[in-house]
Amino acid sequence: MKVLVIGSGAREHALCRSLSLDPAVTALHCAPGNAGIAEVAELHPVDPMDGAAVSALATDLGTDLVVVGPEAPLVAGVADAVHAAGIPVFGPSGEAARIEGSKAFAKDVMAAAGVPTARSYVCSSAEEVARALDAFGAPYVVKDDGLAAGKGVVVTHDLDAAKAHAAACERVVVEEFLDGPEVSVFALTDGETVVPLQPSQDFKRALDGDEGPNTGGMGAYSPLPWTDPKLVDEVLETVLQPTVDEMRRRGIPFAGVLYAGLAITSRGVRVIEFNARFGDPETQVVLARLKTPLAGVLLAAAQGTLADLEPLRWSEEAAVTVVVASHNYPGSPRTGDPITGLDAVAAEDAPHAYVLHAGTRRDGAAIVSAGGRVLSVTATGEDLVQARERAYTAVARIGLDGSQHRTDIAAKAAGV
Ligand code: AMP
Ligand code: GLY
Repeated sequence: MKVLVIGSGAREHALCRSLSLDPAVTALHCAPGNAGIAEVAELHPVDPMDGAAVSALATDLGTDLVVVGPEAPLVAGVADAVHAAGIPVFGPSGEAARIEGSKAFAKDVMAAAGVPTARSYVCSSAEEVARALDAFGAPYVVKDDGLAAGKGVVVTHDLDAAKAHAAACERVVVEEFLDGPEVSVFALTDGETVVPLQPSQDFKRALDGDEGPNTGGMGAYSPLPWTDPKLVDEVLETVLQPTVDEMRRRGIPFAGVLYAGLAITSRGVRVIEFNARFGDPETQVVLARLKTPLAGVLLAAAQGTLADLEPLRWSEEAAVTVVVASHNYPGSPRTGDPITGLDAVAAEDAPHAYVLHAGTRRDGAAIVSAGGRVLSVTATGEDLVQARERAYTAVARIGLDGSQHRTDIAAKAAGV
């Protein structure tokens, strides 16, 4: 099977790594990719947002499956263009990706499907915002309605800060604060059948102890020893299947991966957000534990045959990933700094720990930083204690001037 992956993050590197280990994959391509993905896939300098260019590339390469990683091309309809060229594509249509692209749309789908979520108001004026903030009280939750790479949400006790964020956005969703730990559950779906993956937990704040600004995610781990073993079944029944059914009922079937960002509150599971793609960095730990070869699974979702798939097989091992970010991330990051220690990780820590690249590029013989989240180190182990030890051992070998990473990824769950 010839596979083309679209995107350039650590999530796409994780997808490419798993696909490269799948014996069914005979050729692996990625556009545009990064310096790490180049080690497992052939890179093509094609704009991931350009559906015509992506489908032309897929056609030229004789691709059997295109996997679209990030939300922006999905919302822009890149999967539609590939589909129109007659090539199986893993990733929802632009219309279906609105479940991530518009918080207001997602709320409407959830209301219709009876999916538990925070109560909310969609507001377009300062008066509406003030009324909604007053109705819910502090802590205030204000979300930009559009795509914002995980950074469009402000959660604050400061009423003026909440109003200022709303004023900076065109349309916002103001919602009740959900108290309780967060869990990410991804499900593969062909629009009808829903196959949930193992749950994971992301660390959204920049600094240890969940301090600092929201980011795209600074680390993740799986499994979650502290959750009810029936959590995934419950989420399938109350969240994932009803949402997929509602999308189909609306004539906009959702096929690809549906990402449910959940809060485990004292009143039960509530959806914080849906995404229309794999989460980053959670994908790194979920795929590290998936034993079933990936290509056939993604192809089944693309072709509407998930119902025929054997149950997925999972490793009993734990996985932890730690993101190494540039100086000043999530503000405008500094780029162009050389990254050292990558060979040392490959020599000393593989196969239990490995580096997945995100914002990197090759500069002559060197690999340099090229984005906010530069790379993530993923490690597996007998349990979370061992997986996190291995991850942090490898992180310590990486040199990147001014870089930052959290030191407490999976610490609480590992009991350390
Ligand atoms: P989102 O982009 O919707 O995932 O929001 C980013 C982060 O903001 C989430 O991971 C939560 O940590 C936080 N957040 C979003 N909505 C709420 C809410 N209703 N209550 C509490 N925290 C929230
Ligand atoms: N890790 C959060 C996200 O992918 O949106």
